[in-house]
Amino acid sequence: MIKVCTAVRTGGLSVKWLIAILALTTALVARADVEWAYPVLDESLLPQRDLDLDPQALRSVPGSSLQRTQEQIDDHWNPPDWFPDDHYAPVPDVVAHGDGPNVRACAACHGFMGAGHPESSHLAGLTVGYITRQMADFRSGAQRSPSGSSAMRLDRSWMNTFEPTLEQIEQAAEWFSGLPVIDWIDEVIETDTVPRTYIGDGRMRHVHPDGGTEPIDGRIVEVPQDWELATARHPRSGFTVYAPTGSVARGEELVTTGGDGRTIECFTCHGQDLKGFGDTPRLAGISPTYVVRQLNDFRTGDRAGTLGSLMLLAVTNLTDEDIVAIAAYLATLDP
Ligand code: HEC
Ligand code: HEC
Repeated sequence: MIKVCTAVRTGGLSVKWLIAILALTTALVARADVEWAYPVLDESLLPQRDLDLDPQALRSVPGSSLQRTQEQIDDHWNPPDWFPDDHYAPVPDVVAHGDGPNVRACAACHGFMGAGHPESSHLAGLTVGYITRQMADFRSGAQRSPSGSSAMRLDRSWMNTFEPTLEQIEQAAEWFSGLPVIDWIDEVIETDTVPRTYIGDGRMRHVHPDGGTEPIDGRIVEVPQDWELATARHPRSGFTVYAPTGSVARGEELVTTGGDGRTIECFTCHGQDLKGFGDTPRLAGISPTYVVRQLNDFRTGDRAGTLGSLMLLAVTNLTDEDIVAIAAYLATLDP
């Protein structure tokens, strides 16, 4: 739009050029958005299967003797610990049960293996320094604060209103930090056409049970391998990733070479194997939906915590397509 105004003022361009520029600008504006990475539940799109679920029916997962109703599974102060014998160390109370109305159990959203879901984030293996810095940033409101009207942004801003004590943060950070990192992404599939999906309760994207396909349209589509296990919050049931054709190679080039100055080689700060370096976090094998949100948030300034400025040079010149490509490539790496 700005370009068009300039052209009119200088009067140096023909109508044909004006139309061409206008068309280009409109195309860019129409394409420029990654809102799909900020999932929002739309109840009108829920399939019959989800509507038919009985919240009081008992459920379980293979290998566990525990039984829980969906209502209990969704309790943010008492999420199901399906495999209590699997823990490498006793689970801190704040992780398993939270503490009063302002502190929900970390495991409710980040899981008992700390692998998280595409709509939240992984925490396993991140350093104590990194986790406590993020918590302080959330508290100060400097990071991932709500901006715009997107419901997801308003919703996730509650990490900003969260009030665990410093001791609880320390305990949670120590525990998540010591968790072994699991391989959570089973496959990255490049394609132009993806299964039709919808955002379910809990804001997770699922394959539509009635089938159908749709164009990928520049998105990353990340869906659980197993709907039953994912809605039961199974701590080890992972995700399948669909990415636009050609995005993995393009992402590899950007990540490993900086793409001719478009960005900075990520290993400079994130470590040779992208598994983290000091308190700079791991990138290898993390949820690509989460990566798209973070790169976009750094780019827009929504994520501007204590060390957020270090990411600015890496993201300033990235297009949405670059961000999607980088996320797709990182998802192919061993965590
Ligand atoms: C109701 C869901 C929910 C609960 C409960 C929750 N979180 Fe989060 N957390 C989120 C979401 C959503 C994000 C990701 C926001 C984004 O996409 O930027 C997040 C992000 C984080 C991050 C940033 C991760 C990174 O790689 O930068 C940390 C650290 C974190 N949470 C720690 C905790 C701790 C510790 C607890 C428990 C005391 C907790 N969370 C409880 C939803 C939750
Ligand atoms: C100059 C150092 C530097 C470079 C180069 C850099 N990063 Fe970062 N990155 C950081 C720091 C520091 C953080 C943590 C910021 C914070 O604490 O909020 C970070 C955070 C991130 C996060 C958020 C991770 C999480 O768990 O929330 C992503 C994603 C990321 N970087 C991707 C990249 C990619 C992709 C590249 C290369 C294209 C890159 N970074 C290059 C320093 C860097």
